[in-house]
Amino acid sequence: MKILSIETSADETAVSLIQVTGEFPTAQYEILGNALSSQVDMHAQYGGIFPSLAKREHAGKIVPLLIKTLEEAGMLEEKSLPEPLSNEHALEEILAEREPELLSALQKFLRTYEAPEIDMIAVTTGPGLAPALWVGVNFAKALATAWNVKVAPVNHMEGHILASIFDVVEDDELVPIEFPAVALLISGGHTELVKMDRWGSYEKIGQTRDDAVGEAFDKVARLLGFAYPGGKEIDERAALARKQNLPPFTDKPLPRPMLHSGDLDFSFSGLKTAVRYAVQDKDLSDNDKTAIARDFMDAVIEVLLKKVSAALETTGAKTLIVGGGVSASRGIRTALNTTLLETHPNVEVYFPAPGLSTDNSIMIALAGHAKAGTATPAGSVSNLRADANKSL
Ligand code: KG4
Ligand code: ZN
Repeated sequence: MKILSIETSADETAVSLIQVTGEFPTAQYEILGNALSSQVDMHAQYGGIFPSLAKREHAGKIVPLLIKTLEEAGMLEEKSLPEPLSNEHALEEILAEREPELLSALQKFLRTYEAPEIDMIAVTTGPGLAPALWVGVNFAKALATAWNVKVAPVNHMEGHILASIFDVVEDDELVPIEFPAVALLISGGHTELVKMDRWGSYEKIGQTRDDAVGEAFDKVARLLGFAYPGGKEIDERAALARKQNLPPFTDKPLPRPMLHSGDLDFSFSGLKTAVRYAVQDKDLSDNDKTAIARDFMDAVIEVLLKKVSAALETTGAKTLIVGGGVSASRGIRTALNTTLLETHPNVEVYFPAPGLSTDNSIMIALAGHAKAGTATPAGSVSNLRADANKSL
């Protein structure tokens, strides 16, 4: 089957077209087309995602990205004569009120190009920013109506999990994993430990009580004057500090929040506040900033290692799946690939391939395929909703 996937939950607009041969989870996937547009530069000045701006950007980018994806897949076919649309009224009902600009772009697209031969649309319905999510959801509804194809509503976090075990190096397939598995999901909006007894079964066993780990990275980066989102720069600086053996910036180590709480929950806002107190009113040198980045990451890594170890022990899992944007961090990868294995040598640890850690639509196609059996028929898409707090 061919799946068109759409992701608009935060600040990346992404559209992919994937061909799938076989059944989940042993299918072969082929990426026919993949287009992504990031808004990070635009949100940088706000130090975070500005929801109404994100919505407008998604609405402006999604049709061009669809065209790019279809073109790359060799499936963009112009109509010999631009035709009036038969389902104009239904499209207006879906888009006219909330996405007027998107409606006219989509109408033009549908009048110009033939319906491609796809079998399903997969779209992120949550979690994420509601105004951003709705653009993708409404767009998917309209396309499904125009092309008469079903829609699989996808949980963004399930996408991150599947991205982490998607083997793009060898065969474009999901690696077979041993259950029970534990997933550590670390992104700008989430910090969660999830137990999986089998495919599609997700039990949240730990989560942050305040800031997500990516949020803490970004806030600390901001305190140090790095551009948003600063997770990557913190990670690179921390690696440099380790290489140069820079001494700790503070006399007293930064806190390791909830290290001894006895449960699997996290808290990162106190750590960020501790960094704020440590740096305020100080004239920081470049080396100071590099040392602080490392001190901060040492605290994060110690907490992550402790909680992941505890999660593996309480669940008896032999599989650890690390997903979400922060899983791109070299420091975190090294800790979970080496330090963790010293105490848990039998655990297999999986990280996403480059390009699949941060938000993308390939992971949405994978999660959509997992849900293909329960997809919503084209005639029932009016029931589909975005759910900002959708849980696994
Ligand atoms: O999954 P994602 O792309 O979006 C959300 O769903 O939130 O994650 C974005 C987060 C940001 O906080 C960003 O700073 C962080 O991932 N991030 C990193 C790295 N690359 C992205 N954090 C640490 N090291 C990195 N290399
Ligand atoms: Zn994400």
